[in-house]
Amino acid sequence: MTDRPSALRTRLCDLLGLRYPIVQAGMGAGITTSDLVAAVSNAGGLGILGAHMMPADTLRGAIRAIKERTDRPFGVNFIVAPPEPGNTEVAAAQRFLDRFRQDLGLPPGPPNLALPPSPIQDLMTIVFEERVPVLSLGLGDPGRFVEPAHEQGAQVMAMVSTVAEAIRAAECGVDVIAAQGAEAGGHRSNFTLGMDGDVPMVGTLALVPQVVDAVGVPVLAAGGIMDGRGLAAALALGAEGALMGTRFLLARESGTFAGYRRALREATEVDTVVTPAPTGRPARSLRNKLVEEMAAGYEPLSYPLQGVAAMDVYRAAAASDHPDLFPLWAGQGLRLLQEDQSAAEIVAATIA
Ligand SMILES: Cc1cc2nc3c(=O)[nH]c(=O)nc-3n(C[C@H](O)[C@H](O)[C@H](O)COP(=O)(O)O)c2cc1C
Repeated sequence: MTDRPSALRTRLCDLLGLRYPIVQAGMGAGITTSDLVAAVSNAGGLGILGAHMMPADTLRGAIRAIKERTDRPFGVNFIVAPPEPGNTEVAAAQRFLDRFRQDLGLPPGPPNLALPPSPIQDLMTIVFEERVPVLSLGLGDPGRFVEPAHEQGAQVMAMVSTVAEAIRAAECGVDVIAAQGAEAGGHRSNFTLGMDGDVPMVGTLALVPQVVDAVGVPVLAAGGIMDGRGLAAALALGAEGALMGTRFLLARESGTFAGYRRALREATEVDTVVTPAPTGRPARSLRNKLVEEMAAGYEPLSYPLQGVAAMDVYRAAAASDHPDLFPLWAGQGLRLLQEDQSAAEIVAATIA
């Protein structure tokens, strides 16, 4: 491991027991494998497992696999967004989605769908039973989770996208706040959506110092941070570390499927778009056939119904390596991606 200059030892490092102020974002779609999470933690950062809607057995297995691979701190991430009001016309949505099913050889989607009960309380219990050191929460008010987590000895990290959300998270007693700027890949982490489903889009450079000034806990900067320059900029803004998602998508240990990797390599800073179409909540992804056809005449179902309705399409697209029909979440720092690096090399290069 590289020597650590004192500027790289922040309160975040002391609080979470990290050598370096680098946090790998919890990500869905099988990207954050146990190998990736453990490798980041072993390299001195904090690896986070994205566990949104994971089956309980899979979650417990993944946590145990991480613990077998590292004795360093790591985290588990959940999306805590509440269901939104809006379009519930499932039959019409399915008729539209059936064109993608045809391409993938899938049967037509069912015209009726019920939302499955949220598994989050059960999954949270597993996180506590397994003594996971850090609970990471995105896309919602962290309030009801903080006390139970602290009682179980876990630290809580909440992701926000405005100063008002940061103040709310701090009042709830969270230990770390990730300030997510508009450049970020994946879902916008706003607690609630506006009347028309819109969200504010404050860039990382503007958001981070305003959040730092508003709260007393350590702040992580998120959105567009891809290398040491980004980390240095984050620290200069008063953040005490960087939360990086997109940069780890090409890590050797990540579960990003082959066609997703190809699309990332070919994309540049102008190739992403923020759209609610794939899941019902605004998220930044690469522009592809899925997003473009949805943009040209599709009203997505409300969150989380849209994702439930299209889940068979996304699963089949990933399994059969069809990146055109999968939501390819990605941030704007795309030209800074590097090929064929391990997670440890990414952490070391960023620090160096
Ligand atoms: C592929 C992908 C999946 C993501 N999934 C999640 C998730 O499940 N939960 C979450 O809180 N954030 C998720 N995010 C957002 C990250 O937490 C973080 O805000 C973002 O990656 C930071 O910006 P960057 O991608 O430019 O580094 C995801 C981001 C990406 C790129």
